[in-house]
Amino acid sequence: MVKLTGSNKIYCAVFISGRGTNLKSIYNYSKKRYSKIILKLVISNRSNATGIIFAKKHKIKTIVVNYSNKLEAEKKILKNLKNNKIELVCLAGFMKILSKSFLKYFKHNIINIHPSLLPRYKGLKTHERVISNKEKFSGCTVHFVSEKLDSGKIILQKKVKLLKLDTPKKLAKRVLKEENKLYPKAIDKILSNA
Ligand code: GAR
Repeated sequence: MVKLTGSNKIYCAVFISGRGTNLKSIYNYSKKRYSKIILKLVISNRSNATGIIFAKKHKIKTIVVNYSNKLEAEKKILKNLKNNKIELVCLAGFMKILSKSFLKYFKHNIINIHPSLLPRYKGLKTHERVISNKEKFSGCTVHFVSEKLDSGKIILQKKVKLLKLDTPKKLAKRVLKEENKLYPKAIDKILSNA
């Protein structure tokens, strides 16, 4: 894992594909005096992602990557991570799967947030599946990224209780609120242990 020396902060990149509420919470954390990161770069596969507008407004460097050729896309991402001395990558609603060789290059320094209590409900449509299985709880997980989808070591989780009249939309909203609180805590945790 990343090594922190003294009061140093590390450079962090956030990868997004859409709305960017987790990006916003990571940004807000990065602005705290006690934060251990400098949010240096936002990378997206979509130029019209709302999170890109947020990043530009806050003068964070943005890179939009065309994913029609995955190999080229990852080459461009790696080059930018290197040039910007990025040491921690936070996936926040980034809907592309990173290749094995990409993960190898960045070993242990890529984390992700997922809207379920992993290892349960990996993949997409988590809230729909949780509700149709009549679960009592759902939640969210921040974990290290490994070669298998939504499977790396868990850093932090937060439970969310299901309500009688829950719909996927209502549940997603309550889980997202917890995600936004959990992500900064997870970053802080891994960097405190570094
Ligand atoms: C979040 O709910 C996040 O957990 C999910 O995408 C959403 C992004 O929201 N990620 C995944 O499902 C990845 N498997 P945001 O753009 O508002 O942060």
